[in-house]
Amino acid sequence: MMKPPITRMGGKSKLRKEIISMIPDHTCYVELFFGAGWVYFGKEPSKVEVINDIDKELINLFRMIKYHAPEIERMLEYEFSGRDIFEEYKNMTIENLTEIHRSVRFLYLISQSFAGKGNHYGYGTNSKPKPQIFYKGILNDIKERLRNTYVENLSFEKTIEKYDRDYTFFFADPPYFETAGYGNSFKEEEHLILRDKLKNIKGKFLLTINDHEKVREWYKDFNIKETEVSYSVAKDKKARGKYKELIITNY
Ligand SMILES: C[S@@+](CC[C@H](N)C(=O)[O-])C[C@H]1O[C@@H](n2cnc3c(N)ncnc32)[C@H](O)[C@@H]1O
Repeated sequence: MMKPPITRMGGKSKLRKEIISMIPDHTCYVELFFGAGWVYFGKEPSKVEVINDIDKELINLFRMIKYHAPEIERMLEYEFSGRDIFEEYKNMTIENLTEIHRSVRFLYLISQSFAGKGNHYGYGTNSKPKPQIFYKGILNDIKERLRNTYVENLSFEKTIEKYDRDYTFFFADPPYFETAGYGNSFKEEEHLILRDKLKNIKGKFLLTINDHEKVREWYKDFNIKETEVSYSVAKDKKARGKYKELIITNY
């Protein structure tokens, strides 16, 4: 199974085998909240594939890997992990950079920061710096995987509208509901818009989300499977452990 080039909060590394085993027959595969794309990179390619995320820098990275992988690798060849380089990248004004340079900056910040959040330089006393992105050839497989994929940078509801057919399968992994550490704007209102959109699609969907009383109520008319996941990427030891997650489908 391929691995994504970046880490992302809430990435589905632990759950992807279970999710992949539940994907029904389809022609068009749409991933609405791409993040690092663990499921996309782990599954067999579908006839038509769409990846979508609202994060501009994230989607720019995948577009640039798709079209300019050798140039990104060339730019990264002489980079190494360093706090001053990290701070320099972090403080750059992205409007002044080219799209390729922006993707290198994003890749550097994600790979050299704690938990891939891009805000604090990630160093350790019992682990080496993460050098993977500086090796040549790493992006080539990812570029090949992206070759036949449509890359969208929209909010999920627009992507649902554009791609919904009876042969479409949507995989939805939205930000968790009411979970500390996200600092996102995906609140109850957005979760309800997502629920209403998914409720009315012609195609099939599989949604993964944290186990919450309200979530169970919102999706009570669908199939809900409970599963347990252990997370290790947390600064606070107390935050590590097992979490219940729901896999919800309309099939
Ligand atoms: C839990 S992460 C997805 C993780 C992914 N499944 C993986 O394996 O790495 C949620 C993603 O949703 C994106 N997102 C947040 N709001 C969104 C919206 N309104 N429309 C589309 N994507 C959104 C975030 O940028 C983030 O990358």
